[in-house]
Amino acid sequence: MKKIQIIILLFLALASVDMSAKTLVVYYSYTGNCHEIVQTLTSQIDADTLRIYPADKTQHYEANNYAIGTQLLNAIYADPGNPDSYPAIDPVSISLADYSTYIIVTPLWWSHMAAILQTYLFHHGGEMAGKNVGLIVSSHSSGISGVVADAQRLIPEAEWMGDALWINNANHRNRESLIKNWLIAIDYDALTADVKGDVNGDGATDISDVMALIDMLLNGDAYQPDADVNDDGSVSISDVSTLTDYLLSGTW
Ligand SMILES: Cc1cc2nc3c(=O)[nH]c(=O)nc-3n(C[C@H](O)[C@H](O)[C@H](O)COP(=O)(O)O)c2cc1C
Repeated sequence: MKKIQIIILLFLALASVDMSAKTLVVYYSYTGNCHEIVQTLTSQIDADTLRIYPADKTQHYEANNYAIGTQLLNAIYADPGNPDSYPAIDPVSISLADYSTYIIVTPLWWSHMAAILQTYLFHHGGEMAGKNVGLIVSSHSSGISGVVADAQRLIPEAEWMGDALWINNANHRNRESLIKNWLIAIDYDALTADVKGDVNGDGATDISDVMALIDMLLNGDAYQPDADVNDDGSVSISDVSTLTDYLLSGTW
């Protein structure tokens, strides 16, 4: 009876649930190196990408010995808790809640994270709390400890996936093997392994997965192996029942 009530309530509370992939790569690239790194990375893992763009596309950050890049960073460090310290970026519509893992790919600017990406993480880093987060930094030659500190400041409650990967001008051409070895070193495959019943791919099995499953049945979405929680080869109302049973009892 309790189960039926829960299912009815869930039908009533039905909301649209995104069936996104589990990993989101968030990046900024001014001269294209980080973009190339992301292309190489996403040829090795299954991930969605989110590229951040500045609202003002007329700026030449490298002009006058990187003067504008320097000004943007100085404004941030003068008052890092103030949203007005960060340069405006284009609006982003993607929802972070649908992902369990994020990989941040950023250029280094004067030993820090590029200002444009800092804006995005200032506003959204909190949404990555408790989730897996990895960091890849591209610089010409400078070491990346300042960028790591920025990432820790902007995503204070991340579950960091090992050490950050540093790719520089001298080894950028070797990025394919650097990324491959980094993914092994941080145990990426194990950290992002499927969680049984995690229908919506957010890394946990909870009530939102029941809603995702119902949404899928109502919309007649394509068969997805993760949704077949009772392993009978099809996705049906019996999977909703199995998942609800699990959530109520704690055992499959
Ligand atoms: C404003 C600015 C400041 C930079 N400061 C440094 C620096 O201090 N040390 C360094 O090694 N590279 C520095 N770089 C170079 C970038 O980190 C490097 O070229 C990186 O690969 C750029 O990534 P992108 O092509 O994705 O924009 C700077 C670049 C810019 C635009």
